Amino acid sequence: MRNIYMRQVRLNNGVWMPVVGLGTYSSENDSETTQQAVRMALQMGYRHFDTAKIYGSEPALGNALRSAISDRMIQREDVFVTSKLWSSDHHDPVSALEETLQKLGLEYVDLYLVHWPVKLKPGVLNPVPGEEDFDILDLESTWLGMEKCLAMGLCRCIGVSNFSSRKVQQILDFATVPPAVNQVEMHPMWRQRKLREVCRKHNIHVSAYSPLGAPGNCWGSTAVVDHPILKSVALKHKATPAQVALAWGMSKGSSVIVKSFNQRRMKENIGALHLALDDSDTLKIQKMEEWKIMRGDFFTNETTSPYRTIQDLWDDEI
Ligand SMILES: NC(=O)c1ccc[n+]([C@@H]2O[C@H](COP(=O)([O-])OP(=O)(O)OC[C@H]3O[C@@H](n4cnc5c(N)ncnc54)[C@H](OP(=O)(O)O)[C@@H]3O)[C@@H](O)[C@H]2O)c1
Repeated sequence: MRNIYMRQVRLNNGVWMPVVGLGTYSSENDSETTQQAVRMALQMGYRHFDTAKIYGSEPALGNALRSAISDRMIQREDVFVTSKLWSSDHHDPVSALEETLQKLGLEYVDLYLVHWPVKLKPGVLNPVPGEEDFDILDLESTWLGMEKCLAMGLCRCIGVSNFSSRKVQQILDFATVPPAVNQVEMHPMWRQRKLREVCRKHNIHVSAYSPLGAPGNCWGSTAVVDHPILKSVALKHKATPAQVALAWGMSKGSSVIVKSFNQRRMKENIGALHLALDDSDTLKIQKMEEWKIMRGDFFTNETTSPYRTIQDLWDDEI
């Protein structure tokens, strides 16, 4: 990769991934706004973009990247693009990724993730599925499909998302290609200590989504960025609480996938690359109460889901 601006991490298959990624989930899903934000992000030095079929942002992201490539602002290999297999596509990851690539207008993605350890019936696009929408989860056949995507050159890396330590272990039990990444909720109030330890042992990179606690999202919270401890650390470093949250994630060896479509906040967020926290900051942050925001209740039920409760879904890591 030719990019000189962005710090990168080397994944277990030798592929380099920029440590700050721009999230593209927005409830409005306005194509023009997303394209403008991606363009601005490229100008600021962002080189990693996160999308998913279920976000509906693949076409806008693809348009913005292709237009930047045709303007010679970047080359394809300068950017790292992640997308995700939606739960109703577990039966055929290859076709799902081909559809994603068509929407992006790209020949490959850099990283393709199993979005959730949940299988829904083909065609179910409701992020909050009904009981009738669940199918029987078979992680082994899903992972075989992901490995096929890799072998076909449709992606450079494969990984998982929202997987507990136990589910990571399950995948490793049958994987020919181990996951390169586990993308999970992680921020100063949900620190993922155990999962990080397990993933480190198996050389799986942990990528942090909602690294600010998703302030401004309907399901998110301002609890992280408004926390007095983050505010005091920010004051000490003449930084902002958001920058402290992002710097904390990176200090744990994680990449951070942060969404902003606002020019000032996008600059602020990428500026976290210049903030180094010291041990006393980390110790303070370690004392913050823990609270998971994305709980996944919508994937649990008493009848058809493999998970009756959120404790089942996260294997008690909640
Ligand atoms: N794998 C998964 O299951 C999963 C789940 C959730 C998210 N993700 C990915 O991770 C990305 C980021 O997660 P997220 O969007 O949930 O949460 P987030 O990045 O923690 O927070 C985004 C929210 O914070 C606001 N914001 C951004 N920078 C800010 C700053 N410096 N100060 C104050 N507010 C700020 C944004 O609004 P403005 O745009 O107005 O700045 C937006 O409302 C998503 O876009 C998506 O790509 C993946």
